[in-house]
Amino acid sequence: MDFIGIDAVVFGVADLQQCQRFLDDWGTRRISAEHDCLVYETQDGAEIIVRHKDDPSLPPPIEPGNTVREVIWGAADADHLACALTRMGAPQPDADGMPRLIDPNGLSLAFRVSRRRSVTVTATPSNAPGSPMRIDRRSPVYDHADPVTIGHVVLFADNFAAMRTFYTDRIGFTVSDEYPGHGVFLRCQTPGPHHNLFILNRPGKPGVNHVAFTVSDIHEVIGGGIAMARHGWKTEIGPGRHPISSAYFWYFHNPLGAPVEYYADDDYCTEAWQPGVFVRKPELFAEWAIAGGIDGTTRRQVVALDDSGRGHA
Ligand SMILES: [Fe+2]
Repeated sequence: MDFIGIDAVVFGVADLQQCQRFLDDWGTRRISAEHDCLVYETQDGAEIIVRHKDDPSLPPPIEPGNTVREVIWGAADADHLACALTRMGAPQPDADGMPRLIDPNGLSLAFRVSRRRSVTVTATPSNAPGSPMRIDRRSPVYDHADPVTIGHVVLFADNFAAMRTFYTDRIGFTVSDEYPGHGVFLRCQTPGPHHNLFILNRPGKPGVNHVAFTVSDIHEVIGGGIAMARHGWKTEIGPGRHPISSAYFWYFHNPLGAPVEYYADDDYCTEAWQPGVFVRKPELFAEWAIAGGIDGTTRRQVVALDDSGRGHA
């Protein structure tokens, strides 16, 4: 349990200006916007770093086109980082001070003492008959999202077994739930959120499935998603709810690469959490979901076919 989460995700893209427009609308905070590099962050300081895909400073891509080029994992402190590095075989720091490994998919991982700040979010409580939790107070309506952190990354694995072993044994992540041989949800700390990494089996075609941003509650998922629709960004799927992890979600197409997700209210796992073993089926990806999203102007469902071909399971 040496890592506490994702400190940064580095993207390589064709069009930085489009990414700047998207990230401004997404609700992430602009730290700098140079012609060759964008840096944004979430509330807690998790970074989104965007460079041109041909920038020679980027690690090699694991798939064609715009995509994630590196994930930087943050350790709680120097002792935890040292412990993790020892387990990982003591990779030496590069010129920027960060040790790196390449996972079995070919994705670059870098490691550092986390620079994220502690942020406490109070989710809107719900009322139920006989147990009112929100008293003399209305539920909020968000006009945009303000992502708290980068919660998880989802990867398509060329060699699923090798990836599962690498991230559990070498990186030290814990299995929260699993589709044996097909998908595994991994968390980096206990107690902690349900997953920071989800690996899906896709032999011969490694890649990124999505990158997910945590927001406060379901109302921010909905308000944030409607705001993105109002800005003209297209829904991939959502809003909806995952039975596994329990989270509410909304995924958007974007110029960074694979879809990005707003999500909220995921399971929180202690030592008492019992990992589930499931057979993959669509109703475990979504209890319910809207394929075309909600129109930002009319606030009504957009009729669309789910033709993504991504499986959603
Ligand atoms: Fe997700």
